[in-house]
Amino acid sequence: MAFGPIMKLTTESGLKLELAPFTREEVLVFIAGLQKQSTNQYNGMLPVTAEMEQEWFDKRSKESNVMLWGVWVVERDKRKLIGYTEINEISPLVPTQRNITQGSTSITLTDNNYWRIGVASAAHYARTWYAFEQLGLVRLRSAVAQENTASRRALDKVGYSHVYVERNFQFIDGHYVHEDMLECLNPADWAWRLWWGDDRPSRKNLQARKKTEVALAWSREHVVLP
Ligand SMILES: CC(C)(COP(=O)(O)OP(=O)(O)OC[C@H]1O[C@@H](n2cnc3c(N)ncnc32)[C@H](O)[C@@H]1OP(=O)(O)O)[C@@H](O)C(=O)NCCC(=O)NCCS
Repeated sequence: MAFGPIMKLTTESGLKLELAPFTREEVLVFIAGLQKQSTNQYNGMLPVTAEMEQEWFDKRSKESNVMLWGVWVVERDKRKLIGYTEINEISPLVPTQRNITQGSTSITLTDNNYWRIGVASAAHYARTWYAFEQLGLVRLRSAVAQENTASRRALDKVGYSHVYVERNFQFIDGHYVHEDMLECLNPADWAWRLWWGDDRPSRKNLQARKKTEVALAWSREHVVLP
């Protein structure tokens, strides 16, 4: 699996994006960003070297339960790789019951010149659409530091909701930071029934479902799989 197929879309601000594979050489553009504290602080990552980044690429590209995309911006017909996003740990929730499948998601924009202009929000829309409508996953999970406002906000907009807190998972700027564990559920009737069974989803879950439905409707219209 490793790489997901090319998806083309345009952000709300008009920036053209592609989620698409990248090569072992292209991965080196991530290094400058991954050596900055501002990129790594909430990911719990440490700075990497070229060798480490290419080892990561080699390992990732062989993993069958990962779907990885480079985040490319297209400006004046030139493509520029600015980060990556993935669905990893794709697997059945209960190993013997293959119908409820889930994955964990993450994104890192290593080029911080492209932060705060809606890139992660658009990438989350496309990735979520792909996970639910092309892979048929039932649940996506993500973990986000409570202080990582941008990440939390981008996930919230696509319908990730809070499940529980991992306390004290990192120590940043002189204090412990907690991590919110979030989930986003496939809003399609078949998946919703499978997930909730006889339980009644809370109002919070129903609101999150609506957001995901809106995100999927947007993506059906705006994401192109060439
Ligand atoms: C977190 C990250 C992915 C956000 O990407 P981004 O493209 O800048 O996010 P967006 O522009 O789509 O913004 C998402 C929302 O957060 C808000 N936001 C963005 N940066 C913010 C900031 N520094 N403070 C407060 N809000 C912020 C945006 O206004 C937007 O909300 P809105 O749509 O209501 O206006 C990016 O900063 C990054 O890669 N950081 C390093 C790695 C990381 O932390 N990854 C996530 C780990 S869980």
